[in-house]
Amino acid sequence: MSQNKLNHQLILPCGAVLKNRIAKSAMSEALGNSRHEADENLQKLYHRWALGGTGLLITGNVMVDATALGEPGNVAFTKNRGIEDLKKWAEASVIENTHVWVQLNHPGKQSPKFLSKEPVSPSAIAFGPPLGNMFYPPRALTEKEIFDIIEAFAFASKSVKDAGFTGVQIHGAHGYLVSQFLSPLHNQRQDQWGGSLANRMRFVMNLYQAIRQSVGPAFPVGIKLNSADFQRGGFTQEESMDVVQALSERGMDLIEISGGTYEAPAMTGAAPGKQKKSTQEREAYFLGYCEEVRKRVKTPLMLTGGFRSREGMEEALQSGACDVIGLARPLAINPDFSKALLRGENITSPVKPLSTGIRALDKLVPLEVTWYTHQLQRMGKGQEPDPDLGEIKSILSTFITMGIQNLRRTRTR
Ligand SMILES: Cc1cc2nc3c(=O)[nH]c(=O)nc-3n(C[C@H](O)[C@H](O)[C@H](O)COP(=O)(O)O)c2cc1C
Repeated sequence: MSQNKLNHQLILPCGAVLKNRIAKSAMSEALGNSRHEADENLQKLYHRWALGGTGLLITGNVMVDATALGEPGNVAFTKNRGIEDLKKWAEASVIENTHVWVQLNHPGKQSPKFLSKEPVSPSAIAFGPPLGNMFYPPRALTEKEIFDIIEAFAFASKSVKDAGFTGVQIHGAHGYLVSQFLSPLHNQRQDQWGGSLANRMRFVMNLYQAIRQSVGPAFPVGIKLNSADFQRGGFTQEESMDVVQALSERGMDLIEISGGTYEAPAMTGAAPGKQKKSTQEREAYFLGYCEEVRKRVKTPLMLTGGFRSREGMEEALQSGACDVIGLARPLAINPDFSKALLRGENITSPVKPLSTGIRALDKLVPLEVTWYTHQLQRMGKGQEPDPDLGEIKSILSTFITMGIQNLRRTRTR
């Protein structure tokens, strides 16, 4: 392919400019300290990524409320927290004209048992097995609590802006709180926040509006959204397209397309039975959906999940289906992968399925998490990633650094 669209800059609706079309999608780093602050490891990690040429770096999920964590090691907000740590993080990473956005999240009922005795959700509906073993049954949010959470997102967004980051992204995917509100399976409220799609999307619409008010019209605000939950009776592709359209009409700057939940983890390509065969045969998991959305909205679209080859990325950009290529695992094993892509090299990321070779162990340990988190932690210490790291060695080293309890407690994504 002769053209190199990956190199083209992109002007977002708010006027901000991305220097190229490659974005690092969020990967939870688990590098926050015991006060939920970002320390030197996060500065080093993002500095390293920024040197790798990627135009947009989206941080791993930062929780808007430290009493509702998705996993140990989350950076999180408390009422009286300062922003000195965030300033240092931003200063180390907003270099070389790189955009660095903070992904903001609330886990809702996806807060593990050892972190939340009574998690909250739109409705008091517990997960079925096997997830029910990991999470306590939630209680339904009161209306006041819903407004408090919206305010927490707005407060966190303003803090992120004041700290020097260049944008925020709402985590609206993968079964967390926003996604729980959108899903008719998880949201069975009878008030203005549940029932029709218009009601179920009220939470995310209010969230966007509150964030926009707090950061102003010129600051990039994006969202990561599921193309579908891939669950019977869950949030469908048609509903997702309506939500994308509504967010687009309100002025969202960048919509990242992903899909799946803990129950059907399509986001990492691990729910093959749930997707059409034609979808499985394409490199990017959600390309077909993106092509359909493109017909309905002009808002810049970022597509994440499965991209490995420069050819596949260029094709997706040239076809107009998406405007930004989202990469997660390829950049965890090679922070300079973007540089090579931008030089026009015809390369393919060597990301491959992981296995210890022992089925029972693969089932017991969230290998995708331990192995990739290990790579992020290496970069946080100033080392380069180690793509040849053995799976069993990654489990042992996580075991040594985190202890057996935390290893078993680590969530899947
Ligand atoms: C270790 C790890 C942590 C992740 N953490 C997050 C996260 O905090 N927020 C999020 O939206 N997605 C998260 N993801 C999902 C990725 O952003 C991405 O959607 C997924 O890995 C598919 O992209 P890829 O095929 O390029 O890896 C995580 C993935 C991995 C492997």
